[in-house]
Amino acid sequence: MKKSSPVSRSGRFTNGPGADVAQFTESISFDHRLWRHDIAGSLAHAAMLQKIGILTRAELQAITTGLTAIGEEIAAGKFAWKPELEDVHMNVEAELTRRVPAGAKLHTARSRNDQVALDMRLWLRDEIVELGDELRGLQQALVGLGAENHAVIIPGYTHLQRAQPVYFAHHLLAYVEMLERDHGRLTDCFQRVNICPLGSGALGGTTLPLDRAFVAVQLGFVDAKGRPCLTQNSMDAVSDRDFAIEFCAAGALIAMHLSRLAEDLILWAGTEFNFIRIADAYTTGSSLMPQKKNPDIAELTRGKTGRVYGNLIALLTLLKGLPMAYNRDLQEDKERLFDTADTVRACVRLMAAMLRHTTVNAPACQAAAGDPALLATDLADYLVRQGMPFRQAHHAVGAVVARAEELGRPLNQLTLAELRAVNPAFGDDAPATFNLTAAMAKRNITGAPGTKEVARQLARWQKAIGGKTAAPRS
Ligand code: ARG
Repeated sequence: MKKSSPVSRSGRFTNGPGADVAQFTESISFDHRLWRHDIAGSLAHAAMLQKIGILTRAELQAITTGLTAIGEEIAAGKFAWKPELEDVHMNVEAELTRRVPAGAKLHTARSRNDQVALDMRLWLRDEIVELGDELRGLQQALVGLGAENHAVIIPGYTHLQRAQPVYFAHHLLAYVEMLERDHGRLTDCFQRVNICPLGSGALGGTTLPLDRAFVAVQLGFVDAKGRPCLTQNSMDAVSDRDFAIEFCAAGALIAMHLSRLAEDLILWAGTEFNFIRIADAYTTGSSLMPQKKNPDIAELTRGKTGRVYGNLIALLTLLKGLPMAYNRDLQEDKERLFDTADTVRACVRLMAAMLRHTTVNAPACQAAAGDPALLATDLADYLVRQGMPFRQAHHAVGAVVARAEELGRPLNQLTLAELRAVNPAFGDDAPATFNLTAAMAKRNITGAPGTKEVARQLARWQKAIGGKTAAPRS
């Protein structure tokens, strides 16, 4: 099948591409989702062309009406995309030109190279804002679950071995901190996405007197003071995709954080820990084992992290060998970018929903946190308070632990005499070290998992981002 494309090829080419070539080169099957931003860009470009005298008012009016109607048809699912027209840009423009003769003037001083760079920036701006909101939702879910269970203590782990007690909320707030940095990275990325490339043409700008600032302001490419943000080098503007890669890198970090959270939740939901219960609606069963209730959302979130990393590496590799300026290789950027945006957004949203339907098994947490070995370091701190150098105190408590193992008793069941037999520095008040409530009250420096500090952190986050529930303990 040979068809000639009415928009870009007429003139130089006598024939359109063959069907296999068209199928290989088309991008409409995935870039059609840029349509809203493509039309917004064209409306701004047309308004500017009228302002500088290239379009008459009537022509601008006809183009605006035509583009608006096409937009409505696309939104209603009534627009027939034509693969032989390659991409979203040519589909929209060809249809406009078919309806409105002035449509043939729309592409004045514009190339698909600066057009696609523009569309991607416009699209990504919206995605960043929406992903940022989703991240806030996840933070709220974490803060909410922490606040609801503010009195629950669990073992904190290193090497997946019980280490020291922490409030359950403290553990969750660790993820809130990570997500806050992720949010900051998105905000930062937004600044570099929010720069208008239109006017760069194919690579070398134009001889026509475009008003780039007008277009930028129309499309909201402005800084905090309302000043237009314009790319400053036409070749850079059409050929680099670092703004997309930066987003994919920020997305990869979000996915990594979500994957760690997923791993914790999977462990906690398992019978061995049994710290949490995920509501039925957010788990799945086994087709074979009737008793199973699997944390598939968390597992898929952990699994999808791989493809989000893959997208980042794919884009970095895509760009690394490209000569200046635009190369068709760049068309391969979109699916990776879209996939990162879609995947990360879905993971953030589903993890938040799952957390809002997760309850804590307080007795199981209490039993685990009651392990007196978690307070072995507190016993060493006790000796430090008696004036013993920490290295020596560590050694002494190590000997106490060995003695308890020998006697087959938990650490807090040694008598004062048995403690003193190991080291005479243990006084009458040494056994009180194993009072968990008192132990938690002592951990109160900034960032510590102690009673007052965790309450302060919960309150800080509730104030900063809101949360669905209960005031923290004071
Ligand atoms: N579909 C193309 C892309 O995604 C648009 C730019 C095409 N430019 C060109 N010179 N063929 O990159």
